[in-house]
Amino acid sequence: MPGPADRTDVPPKDPLACTECGASSRERQYARTPERRTCEHCLLDARKRLGGLEEDPYELFVESLAEALDLRERETGLHSKRVATHTLLLAAHHYTDVKDLREVYWGSLLHDIGKIGVPDAVLLKPGRLTDEEWRIMRLHPANGHLILEKLPFLAMAADIVLCHEECYDGSGYPAGLKGEEIPLAARLFAVVDTLDAMTFDRPYRKALPFDTAKAEIQRMAGSQFDPLAVDTFLAEETALREMVTLAFPPGR
Ligand SMILES: [Fe+2]
Repeated sequence: MPGPADRTDVPPKDPLACTECGASSRERQYARTPERRTCEHCLLDARKRLGGLEEDPYELFVESLAEALDLRERETGLHSKRVATHTLLLAAHHYTDVKDLREVYWGSLLHDIGKIGVPDAVLLKPGRLTDEEWRIMRLHPANGHLILEKLPFLAMAADIVLCHEECYDGSGYPAGLKGEEIPLAARLFAVVDTLDAMTFDRPYRKALPFDTAKAEIQRMAGSQFDPLAVDTFLAEETALREMVTLAFPPGR
């Protein structure tokens, strides 16, 4: 009978494990220094606290719910938390009340909660959507709003969910709102969501470099995006670039 010193079933220590929480390859690893590595969860949590939000049990539950929604659509769980954290970075330029910042975070985190009502055949369809499938897909902001509007302490978050697919020039949906008719937080979110969509891998293409996404966002200032939101994005360029570049270092 082998003694403890002879055991071979203990997994070797993972040299790439997150130095904060110990997570190994389950999460994308961010190299911070040669000695210290941080997983995406821990990096996002640190960013969130910089934005003025402390952890609370409700928030952890809502983050888990958002992660479950992401897993269904994207096979990875951190898209919503990433865009919520980054929207919070931008929102800190415009909102000072912690209650408002919390609602910005929750609204961004749950922006696509209405997709829970979109059938897999539409949500996960690899090719182009038909007109009828688009009609179904475009119901998700209003359905998300319906889910959140029952919670009186989340009125502002519900408005972000309702307006997160609106465009500054009125070409978005569901209402075709224009300019300042769209809540500021939703205008900030739109820029961050596009950055995330372009700089992270999608099933149909590899991630694009940060500078490609930046050029596209600047090109769309005044049409798809509020110029004020683009200016705020540029003010946080260093932090956002670091996040994207650490996730996908050149030559990976
Ligand atoms: Fe959406």
